Amino acid sequence: MLDSSAIETEDMDRICDALALEFSSCSGKTVSITGGAGFLGFYLVQSLLHWNRQNSAKSGIQVNVFDTFIRGRPAWLDACAKQAHCELYTHDVTETLPPQLCQSDFIIHAASIASPIFYREYPIETMDANVHGLRQILDLSRVRAADNNPISAILFFSTSEIYGDPDADNIPTSESYRGNVSCTGPRACYDESKRYGETLCVNFANQHQVPVKTARPFNNYGPGLSISDKRAPPDFANDVLSNRDIVLLSDGSPTRTFCYISDAITGYFKILFNGRKGEAYNIGNESPEISVREFAEKNVAAAKELFGYEGSVKFAKSDDEHYLTDNPNRRCPNIAKARAELNFEPVVPIDEGIRRSLIWYQDNRET
Ligand SMILES: NC(=O)c1ccc[n+]([C@@H]2O[C@H](COP(=O)([O-])OP(=O)(O)OC[C@H]3O[C@@H](n4cnc5c(N)ncnc54)[C@H](O)[C@@H]3O)[C@@H](O)[C@H]2O)c1
Repeated sequence: MLDSSAIETEDMDRICDALALEFSSCSGKTVSITGGAGFLGFYLVQSLLHWNRQNSAKSGIQVNVFDTFIRGRPAWLDACAKQAHCELYTHDVTETLPPQLCQSDFIIHAASIASPIFYREYPIETMDANVHGLRQILDLSRVRAADNNPISAILFFSTSEIYGDPDADNIPTSESYRGNVSCTGPRACYDESKRYGETLCVNFANQHQVPVKTARPFNNYGPGLSISDKRAPPDFANDVLSNRDIVLLSDGSPTRTFCYISDAITGYFKILFNGRKGEAYNIGNESPEISVREFAEKNVAAAKELFGYEGSVKFAKSDDEHYLTDNPNRRCPNIAKARAELNFEPVVPIDEGIRRSLIWYQDNRET
């Protein structure tokens, strides 16, 4: 059986293989990642450093991470900072941009709390990171272009939640769907700031030719997602590794498609390097669309096989009256645009992704 470090290495090999040309073209350049201490940062940062190690004869890709570390500074990131070509900066993207960020060739703007439990605790900070933080990066790009020193590309992380709760005619959901979103509900701080962020991107691309592209992630899971993050996959992993039942705080009927992290990260880099300026791309899996209950049952089955787990799926009601308010009933992407324009194709099947995640969590329960 693979252990967690073999899983990480295999995942990073797969990402680097799929992006061999793109990463080579980035050699000697600087990639800055805001919010790089989070879940997506785990492989965004480490796959670039992995490529550096595999290609030590070439000039390395310099990776700079800017994060508030509001939820702590992860050990994996401190280990990255001990390697060549990686620097960490404690920085809030809503503050004045530091010189190290201003000099970047590529900027990935991932700073924004993504877990519903936590963004509802910090709604204004969440809006500010997605609107004000993004605006400063777009302004920087405009100024750099005017100085004949243009930024090569910017990636903005939006979300599938900008679609809200689509009607059945818009499942699978394509990029042209306009959304069914509350602007005042408990999730609005996240959904609406991402929507306004996208509007900023489109208009800076059109009016000032800023090379910004947008990713709309659909339910990523896998290594790097902290077990304490309070999203469903790590909650389920925590339950099975503690050998207690998985307790769903809903009837488990809403459906999702889940995208394993190495597939998703490959897609995000493809948008950064090959996406069209001002365009947004769905990144996720088209199938299987399964209920949260089925996802929990798949975790139970995998944990039985891997660890002899003896629990099962149970149901309860949350004490939080808004726990399920505006929670989409179905979420499933149409990825035809990313497939056609970026050659994006997820390859890790759901059962394999769950197995890999559980093995990883077994070794990373303190993250
Ligand atoms: N993971 C997913 O499935 C998913 C789905 C949809 C959208 N996204 C988007 O992708 C991006 C990354 O997601 P993630 O899952 O890694 O999130 P995460 O919550 O795990 O990490 C976000 C990181 O951003 C940092 N951050 C927050 N506000 C900041 C600020 N003002 N200045 C600097 N750093 C700040 C946090 O400290 C954290 O390290 C986010 O923009 C998120 O909205 C992710």
